[in-house]
Amino acid sequence: MTKKDFITLTDYKAETLVKIIRRAIELKQGSTSCREAGGKVLAMIFTKPSTRTNVSFFVAMQRLGGQAMYLGSEALQLSRGETIGDTAKTLSRYVDAVMIRTFSHSDAVALAETASVPVINGLTDLLHPCQALGDVMTICEKKGFDFEKIKVAYIGDGNNVCNSLVNAAGVLGFGLTVSSPEGFEPSGDIIEKMQGINSGIVIEKDPRAAVQESDVIYTDVWVSMGDEEEEEVRKKTFSTYQVNSSLASKAKTDFIFMHCLPANRGEEVTDEIMDGNNSAVFDQAENRLHIQQALLEYLFKENKK
Ligand code: CP
Ligand code: NVA
Repeated sequence: MTKKDFITLTDYKAETLVKIIRRAIELKQGSTSCREAGGKVLAMIFTKPSTRTNVSFFVAMQRLGGQAMYLGSEALQLSRGETIGDTAKTLSRYVDAVMIRTFSHSDAVALAETASVPVINGLTDLLHPCQALGDVMTICEKKGFDFEKIKVAYIGDGNNVCNSLVNAAGVLGFGLTVSSPEGFEPSGDIIEKMQGINSGIVIEKDPRAAVQESDVIYTDVWVSMGDEEEEEVRKKTFSTYQVNSSLASKAKTDFIFMHCLPANRGEEVTDEIMDGNNSAVFDQAENRLHIQQALLEYLFKENKK
């Protein structure tokens, strides 16, 4: 049996992702959890800070009858040079699944390749698949499952959150226009591959043209974790990519505003948009819990087969 991990959305078929999303909606509506995680333990390795990912995975495991443990990287021997491989082999003897948030994507891949238990990507410099899956759940709740009819505009840094959104658009088939300043576009490899399966993925330099008639406006911070040295240049470069009322007026009147959070209010988004009637950001944050509970259920079931 091949072990199932959750490192990138492109490892999954559309029908499986939709199944996990539908299950997450059921769980949100109060459906009883399966007890697949009863007595199981999820180890969560964090080499970067987190509010949502940490707390939502912890609560998801509790709801499934299991437990989660926070492993800050400084407290692990990883910080003293123990290899990812040896860490993966050791943790696999104690716990039933591992979630990792780290810098280098190749470390998450190496962990998954060496661990004998399922590994979940809780954000790397390249991807944030749990975020994108929860985001699609939010889009489906607000706009339905007819992906071909949905147009998302992503404005700002072509970062990990954006790359995973591009992957989601590729696999699931919704329209996605990405508008980033030159030099800050999403991964060229990912764009090329996903455009190959969904011609509705478009790059548009002008943010005003990008949001035209869109159902969703999505943005993320201009300075991601690990990009702090470029803060000054990024703030200047991105200044015309702020999501504000003037930009949002180009979208459909019933557009929803999305942000993975945390937000830097006054930079990539104004308070007016964050707190406005079209904002879905806290529903989006809540959905991280339901989608991860559904994902854990799925992974524990699949890996038992
Ligand atoms: N969106 C997200 O992953 O938030 P945290 O960094 O708080 O986990
Ligand atoms: N792009 C952001 C997302 C945080 C959830 C970062 O990597 O810092």
